[in-house]
Amino acid sequence: MRKKLLLGNWKMNKLAIEAKDFAIASRPLVDKAVLNNIDLGVAPTYLSLAAVKENAAKDMIVAAQNIHFAASGAYTGEVSIPMLKEYGISWVIIGHSERRTYDNETSEKCNQKIAALLDNNMVPVYCVGETLREFEAGKTKEVVAEALRVGLKGFRGDKLQNLVIAYEPIWSIGTGKNASAEIAESVCEFIRSVLRELFGCVAEDLRILYGGSVKPENIRTYLSCPNIDGALVGGASLKIESYEALLNNII
Ligand code: PGA
Repeated sequence: MRKKLLLGNWKMNKLAIEAKDFAIASRPLVDKAVLNNIDLGVAPTYLSLAAVKENAAKDMIVAAQNIHFAASGAYTGEVSIPMLKEYGISWVIIGHSERRTYDNETSEKCNQKIAALLDNNMVPVYCVGETLREFEAGKTKEVVAEALRVGLKGFRGDKLQNLVIAYEPIWSIGTGKNASAEIAESVCEFIRSVLRELFGCVAEDLRILYGGSVKPENIRTYLSCPNIDGALVGGASLKIESYEALLNNII
């Protein structure tokens, strides 16, 4: 049985002081999530990771939004895995479409990052998804399969227990145009079939999230689909009231 996961992606939002207030306010929500066997987390900016880690309940998942694959070196502006570990951070979002679009993040680069995270027993949340043009051209499955094959190239199934996949159709991120539950489920089912083909039966244990305009009003519909194990939520995860409503609506 795959455990449900609700992960907020704060993107480039919140000052550290705001992140701290949210973390304190989230403590009872984490207790509620634990009681209901749900994993709850947020991904703040690097500069707010410590504030959230120190002030949230211990079971709150605190994720970074990116990482460099090298442990150290001449990479100006980057942050490494040992630096995250120093703060007790073990989850990282990889390959978010905004990074693919604005920072030239490719699936090849994601592959290096995921390899480094898995080597360190950390949890990559690997994002895949198609553009509106690809969606309209009927290329969703082709694009998603390619991102999986390249991003997950060279790994062994028995090393992948920590991996989480997020299906985020780019046309639905921050646009309010969410993919229907039917579309989301059919792509997540397809993702699981690709994972099965690549890695065998471990695919049944891997969590696949849907992301893109998830709101308190629609989260339950997504999470009632058999192949959707959770949600990666941007805008609706920023306010504690809305984050709480997201949690309440999947209990
Ligand atoms: P959104 O963002 O919920 O604001 O659409 C989702 C994401 O980018 O992870």
